[in-house]
Amino acid sequence: MDRRLFMLFAGALALASCTPAPNAASLPPKAQVYEKGMVSAADPRAAEAGAAMLRQGGTATDGAIATMLALTVVEPQSSGIGGGGLYVATNAMGEVTTIDGRETAPAAANPKWFFKDGVLLKFQEAVPGGTSVGVPGNIALAAKAHGAHGRLPWAALFAPAIKLARDGFVITPRLNRMLKNNARVAAFSAEGRALFFGADGEPLPVGTLVKNPALADTLQAIADQGPQAFYSGGNAKSIVGKVTLAERNPAPMTEADIAAYVAKDRAPVCGSYRGYRICSMGPPSSGATTILATLIQLERFDLKALGKDSPVAWHLIAESQRLAYADRARYSADADFVPVPVAGMVDRKYLAGRSALIDPGKTIPRAVAGTPPGAEKLSFADSRQLEEYGTSHFSVIDRAGNAVSYTSTIEGPFGSGIMAGGYFLNNELTDFDMNPELDGRMVANRVEAGKRPRSSMTPTLVYGPDGRLRMVVGAAGGVTIPAQVLRAIIGVIDWDLGMQEALALPVIFAPGTETVFIEQGTWLEGMIPALKALGHADVQPRNLPLKANAIELRGSKPWGAADPRSEGAAVSE
Ligand code: GLY
Repeated sequence: MDRRLFMLFAGALALASCTPAPNAASLPPKAQVYEKGMVSAADPRAAEAGAAMLRQGGTATDGAIATMLALTVVEPQSSGIGGGGLYVATNAMGEVTTIDGRETAPAAANPKWFFKDGVLLKFQEAVPGGTSVGVPGNIALAAKAHGAHGRLPWAALFAPAIKLARDGFVITPRLNRMLKNNARVAAFSAEGRALFFGADGEPLPVGTLVKNPALADTLQAIADQGPQAFYSGGNAKSIVGKVTLAERNPAPMTEADIAAYVAKDRAPVCGSYRGYRICSMGPPSSGATTILATLIQLERFDLKALGKDSPVAWHLIAESQRLAYADRARYSADADFVPVPVAGMVDRKYLAGRSALIDPGKTIPRAVAGTPPGAEKLSFADSRQLEEYGTSHFSVIDRAGNAVSYTSTIEGPFGSGIMAGGYFLNNELTDFDMNPELDGRMVANRVEAGKRPRSSMTPTLVYGPDGRLRMVVGAAGGVTIPAQVLRAIIGVIDWDLGMQEALALPVIFAPGTETVFIEQGTWLEGMIPALKALGHADVQPRNLPLKANAIELRGSKPWGAADPRSEGAAVSE
């Protein structure tokens, strides 16, 4: 290691030992209110749909649901009512609730779900068609959230999405690119070809107005009749028909599977980082445990003193990620089916031991899972499955101090490729480990009937040391999501950046193997020689699928932030 690097890390350790021990922030001294409501989403038309609800006197939850519905129309490649989502909400007093609207495997599913004639399907073979489809959860989530935290009539939330679907929306450069790059899935069904491709088989060009009357009708029925219009009757029959009779990978989903779907209240998973309280989504998501473990392991290092231009800072972030992602691979899954040692994975004493493995001057030779408290009797094999990069995140606040962090997904671009009622059905079941067993041990995230696949979605709320809400943040991008959310939190807390600048920071992504991915085309690439000098043998620039949306609160003033890599926008009330 060269002398400059040595001085940097020696300084970091010396300064870190002066940092006072952090305490979890307390609840705010009084209820928070904001100057105006705001929505940040991956598409301005969807953000506008949410903001319209706020203008009508709706809550952050009303705004979030309208945004989710509008994204089904204008960003069909990423999320929608044919998929699921995870919802993290807070009120003005800092009380947090979370709802799990993750898709479920049908009753016929079993650990060998992805085997055909005894042979494990390859990922690309498994995606288009019925086998990858889980029972969608977003409408049940929306109904549960609306029942608890909504104010506007249910039907009002659907109006902007119905209008977009009926009157038409324009194909953006991103959608056009996605159609081109993922034509195998996007054009899998006759409906997909008719909606998004021309007679010549080419994706419709940028600027084309697309009308989706089938989706307008589906949304209108759910608006008029409630969620049962999705989970029973014609819509349920249509999903079952499409999945069971799919041209490729037909799969035994039943109307009973669809009728049985429930969105679940879950306990939020919270922890602290440098005095900030951070709450996010627990199982079936790996989001909260992965970001909290990474941050808590980093706390003894003074990232602020190192600064964002320091290769040592990025090395420390990568090393901490490697440890956290290794635990994630072994233990994260649906806790209704397998024991997940959630408290142990974010236990500060356990993580102090993990952090001691991190050396500012060299890399950990092999980052393997530890044994968090509660995991002593578990003997799972490590997961090999990496979530794909569809998905959309939106962050919403209202004037009354409510906030919602909601990540919604159909998994990979255009999900399973199957369309029912004008929307794409998800391919979320490929977020399970398709191979249930490794070296004679079962993987926690194996397929089981009624189980929810592990997620990386990380809808997150961050409260300042004064107890006031400071950030509403989340991202899309499969397994890179925790790394993106971490980068945003570190950018704001450690490097004093505004949220918009923090989302513009490049991303380093080290999911537990020897390889460290660096966002291609960014100034982080200039650090590759320094990272190699620190012992990272395999540092690869990669075009990572990054797309984050956030709102930063400074006192009562909200600042919207949308990933500069995306078409996203923040829209005020
Ligand atoms: N399908 C993306 C995720 O759940 O992480």
